[in-house]
Amino acid sequence: MGTESKDIPCKILGIGSHVPSNIIDNNKLSERVDTSDEWITTRTGIKQRCFANEEEATSDLAFMAAQNALDDAKISPNDIDLIIVATITPDMAFPSTACLIQHKLGIPKVTSFDVEAACSGFLYALDIADGMLKSGRYNRALVVGAEKLSSIMDWADRTTCVLFGDGAGAVILSREGDGPRLIGFNCGADGSNPSLLHQPAGGSLMPASEKSIAARGHFLKMNGKEIFKSAVRVMEAAATDLLISHGLSAKDVDHVIPHQANARIVESLSLRLEIPLEKFFCNLDRYGNTSAASIPLALDEAKKASLFKPGQLGLMVAFGAGLTWSSVLVRF
Ligand code: COA
Repeated sequence: MGTESKDIPCKILGIGSHVPSNIIDNNKLSERVDTSDEWITTRTGIKQRCFANEEEATSDLAFMAAQNALDDAKISPNDIDLIIVATITPDMAFPSTACLIQHKLGIPKVTSFDVEAACSGFLYALDIADGMLKSGRYNRALVVGAEKLSSIMDWADRTTCVLFGDGAGAVILSREGDGPRLIGFNCGADGSNPSLLHQPAGGSLMPASEKSIAARGHFLKMNGKEIFKSAVRVMEAAATDLLISHGLSAKDVDHVIPHQANARIVESLSLRLEIPLEKFFCNLDRYGNTSAASIPLALDEAKKASLFKPGQLGLMVAFGAGLTWSSVLVRF
């Protein structure tokens, strides 16, 4: 549940993002899959997505986003003493993607680990980083959400492969300095129905085998209708509980940066929260669902568009496989 930040809030010193240059629009996609621009647009709002090349991995996207965030914060990698990467598509099962980008950034010894909370992963990682910084044992955190979802998409399943894209976003978080302040967190999960959205094979339950490959178990599988309903319900609750716990209401919110899964989910959330759709920042038409990357990618674009004014209140809210959910309040 949400907790009030009694101590000095952590600030976002810089934001950065990166998407691969290979843009695939719906028409191009329908050359490969039995679908159409009309179906994808009306069901999801997605018009195009970016896919990484075969030789590009999640850590490459994460590294680029991290560099951009460091540039934005005007600090050097050596100023970082904590790296957390949220991803469900790490380069490999282990070591973590955070360790891989630590090496790419040239900052040995820095505490580095991954967080796996699917599409809520970035907000989970912010919550964890915030707590570690406030413990006083760390000064500056690099928090990344990065995915190469094209590596787990099943091209034989048109109900899922049209939804996702690749990308990365990152923030630099610190107790010192100036920037938007993170003032409240609310993370939760319900593990009672994991198969609603999962990648069944490749772990200890179903290790890679001829059987797991024949079952297409290494690809993402989803019950779209159930996920849709759960998404709206849990995001509404995550947002409302957090606002109430801070003595705030929907009327106080100036900007919502939702997880970018589906325009219809965002519209339903807007209705249920009674926050006008104009206050929701959406870029899912250009990137599709990039899971843990979706919120930092949106945050970066909204910031670059000078959307946030000093003193305004932002609400970031996400849901994902697990089911997981998370909401974070930010005072610009
Ligand atoms: N192109 C064309 N037709 C498609 C299609 C595609 N890509 N995918 C499915 N269809 C067809 C189905 O075969 C079905 O045809 P039928 O009626 O002849 O059987 C029809 O479209 C409706 O399929 P359905 O699955 O009922 O569509 P839907 O309206 O529920 O929309 C989703 C499907 C996936 C867009 C929707 O359920 C959704 O967005 N769910 C949430 C997914 C999500 O956000 N996941 C990420 C969580 S982080």
